[in-house]
Amino acid sequence: MSHAPAVTAIDPEVRDWPASRRVEVDEALSHYPNRRSAVLPLMWIAQREWGWLSPPVLRLVARTAELPEPEVFGIATFYTMFNLRPVGRHHLQVCMTISCSLMGADRLFRHLERKLGIGHGETTPDGRFTLRRVECLAACGRGPCMQVNFDYHENLDEARVDALLETLT
Ligand code: FES
Repeated sequence: MSHAPAVTAIDPEVRDWPASRRVEVDEALSHYPNRRSAVLPLMWIAQREWGWLSPPVLRLVARTAELPEPEVFGIATFYTMFNLRPVGRHHLQVCMTISCSLMGADRLFRHLERKLGIGHGETTPDGRFTLRRVECLAACGRGPCMQVNFDYHENLDEARVDALLETLT
């Protein structure tokens, strides 16, 4: 089953949570004694809704968590799982840490760069793929591995990656 987020176009004027996310936001807030502690779950909800955390979205998170905006921006830039730029429908994150690297991650990444015509942090012009190098994805015994949105793909080689890309429309 795919857990891919619905990547939607950002409304640059976003000022509030859509009604469809209100229950999630209230539930996240209810789990903590103070609102600021819910900042990470709020960022996840925002990323699921808008696909990335734009400045207006981070300001919304800051208001909701009652945190200063610079603090929220600092948290968002610390964690690599938060997207600070728009990403394609399929966010390809290739583990480049030592175990995967020894199993061919570097070769695999170069293959993806050539095949897609994009480099690290870039998105194909059709918005289909974003490619990124990332650190350990905690599947070290089954490398090289790649995360596509929220799904893991392990024991990859060029042929398997090519077959996988064909399924990602
Ligand atoms: S080294 Fe690649 S998943 Fe840990």
